[in-house]
Amino acid sequence: MSGHGTLVVGSGLVGTGIARSLASGGRSVTLVSRRPPALAPEAYGAHWEALDATDAGACRRLTERLRPAHVVLVHGPSDVTWCEDHPEEARSAHVAVAGTFAALAPGARIVLISTDNVFAGDAPRHTESTPVAPANAYGRAKREAERALLALAPRAVALRVSLVYGHEPSDAGKWLNFFAACAHRLSRGERVEAPDDHWTTPVLVDDVAAVTAALLRAEHPLPPVLHLGGPDRVTRAEWATVIAGALGAPPEMVAPVPRARTRYASRPVNACLGSELLANLPATERVAVRGVLEGARLLAPAFTVPAG
Ligand SMILES: NC(=O)c1ccc[n+]([C@@H]2O[C@H](COP(=O)([O-])OP(=O)(O)OC[C@H]3O[C@@H](n4cnc5c(N)ncnc54)[C@H](OP(=O)(O)O)[C@@H]3O)[C@@H](O)[C@H]2O)c1
Repeated sequence: MSGHGTLVVGSGLVGTGIARSLASGGRSVTLVSRRPPALAPEAYGAHWEALDATDAGACRRLTERLRPAHVVLVHGPSDVTWCEDHPEEARSAHVAVAGTFAALAPGARIVLISTDNVFAGDAPRHTESTPVAPANAYGRAKREAERALLALAPRAVALRVSLVYGHEPSDAGKWLNFFAACAHRLSRGERVEAPDDHWTTPVLVDDVAAVTAALLRAEHPLPPVLHLGGPDRVTRAEWATVIAGALGAPPEMVAPVPRARTRYASRPVNACLGSELLANLPATERVAVRGVLEGARLLAPAFTVPAG
């Protein structure tokens, strides 16, 4: 497909972050999902259309009209607990959407945002050469979607990303990312319970967007699978303490608890990614990925802590 513009399929935390970044860089961006996103894309220079990406006919009509040069697959279902309860629906949605866009745009650069849940979590950090062994139904669905895409679209990349965070409003009407959920609770003076036995390498949504933009820009062949994790390997409890510090909240507002007692029970113990390959990209495509302290300092002003 030789066309123009970028089609971003999915308008949640990650899709919106990527669309904002691409639009601010002057790209023509169309964002699609079944319902309109909380933040109207027109506010940052992108355009939104309704699409159920599991409807192959609707995807074909859209791609024939838009003729996108680039496609970013960043749609749900993304809730790990929901996928565990609905494994077949999760699998068929992720595999169908990946297969549809691979068939519609086999020559396009397609970036599928995938996940650390394709690993069981045995290693402290998983790189591109670590054998996959999905941790749960969500990880199995995403792994099958990667396969469906890479089998048909030789220029496609599965970018496996660790836990993503950024600002989301408290009334977003959805389960918020860990950073935003913690920061809102702490800023209301409420205690936060966070596992002290669940490790992650969190990555700012703006850094995910910058790496995605670099991959879309790249004219040369890219590895089919790339990993993106933040530089810091932390437990959720450690991370919550960093967030509290950046907000000026007392550290005792964070209560460490076992992972098994939380909604993270079905997640890999080590939800951590490292890359052997990203550093090989040309200097113009490399992104300085920020750690949890810098991320917390950047985001803290968007949350307010009550005085006293
Ligand atoms: N957030 C993370 O930490 C993280 C980490 C690694 C990978 N990822 C991957 O990134 C993707 C997005 O994550 P997220 O956190 O941004 O999720 P999210 O906030 O739940 O957003 C998912 C988006 O997909 C849309 N969507 C769901 N089903 C759709 C369909 N059939 N057709 C069109 N759009 C559909 C949703 O809107 P509607 O429901 O209105 O359609 C929503 O806009 C997921 O595939 C996830 O695996 C996320």
